[in-house]
Amino acid sequence: MKLLQFTDIHLTRPGDTIGGREPNDNFRKALDHALTHHSDADGLVITGDLSDWGDREDYQRLKEMISDLSIPVHLCIGNHDERDTFLSVFPELADENGFVQSVLELPVGQAILLDTWGPDTHAGFFCDVRRQWLDDRLSSSAGPVFVFMHHNPVPIGIAPMDKIMLQDAQEFGALVKKHASKIRHIFHGHCHLLLSGSLHGVPFSAPRGTNHAGWPDFGSEHNLSASDLPESYAVVLADETSVMVHLVEYGYQGEIRREGSPDYADWNRLTMVR
Ligand SMILES: [Fe+2]
Ligand SMILES: [Fe+2]
Repeated sequence: MKLLQFTDIHLTRPGDTIGGREPNDNFRKALDHALTHHSDADGLVITGDLSDWGDREDYQRLKEMISDLSIPVHLCIGNHDERDTFLSVFPELADENGFVQSVLELPVGQAILLDTWGPDTHAGFFCDVRRQWLDDRLSSSAGPVFVFMHHNPVPIGIAPMDKIMLQDAQEFGALVKKHASKIRHIFHGHCHLLLSGSLHGVPFSAPRGTNHAGWPDFGSEHNLSASDLPESYAVVLADETSVMVHLVEYGYQGEIRREGSPDYADWNRLTMVR
């Protein structure tokens, strides 16, 4: 099974830039790159911050851009989104409680997409109603389950980012612990950093995002730090027993060289030919 994760696409009014980069152009480039190199993907999940300001026009543009792709696209919302505005364009993505949550059948197990949005804040929330919904879904699933969400459920050790992480992290963690044997991996975004780790033994990872990049600035007390690291997305390979997560820096401008050979002779420097 191959899945793609895009995160933090931050669509803006066309022409507006963030960190000197135009998010619509970068989203298009990321899609083109993914369709060229990973047309065999079983799905693409975009883990939130779909629009930079939650504008309806951004969601309409997003809907057009993903309407005709050969890879099915699935969406989470993030703190930069506006749930009601998003649902006015994608009404079919509301669960029975009005949250943007869904369960997808995959070639290997299921994906569960979570809604960690809260009003008037950049922090994330996962209230009792959402926890009960997830508990029910995990209880009825045979697994393996791949969880997708916007906010990081584990502090990253950088103060300004940790102020806006998932605020219900203890309760969320308890639920992960309860179903740890079924949850194969958690994919998140939000931090604009390449991250990996584990929560109650369940691994998680995050790519930087398709537009602007952060920097792991451990000395920053108040402000988030930005960098010019390449735009990226994740490629996930999974089967019944394993998961592999790649960071594809599709914005990398340098050369890509195909050098050497896997032939045994090349591993013997006495016989190898240069
Ligand atoms: Fe973001
Ligand atoms: Fe975010």
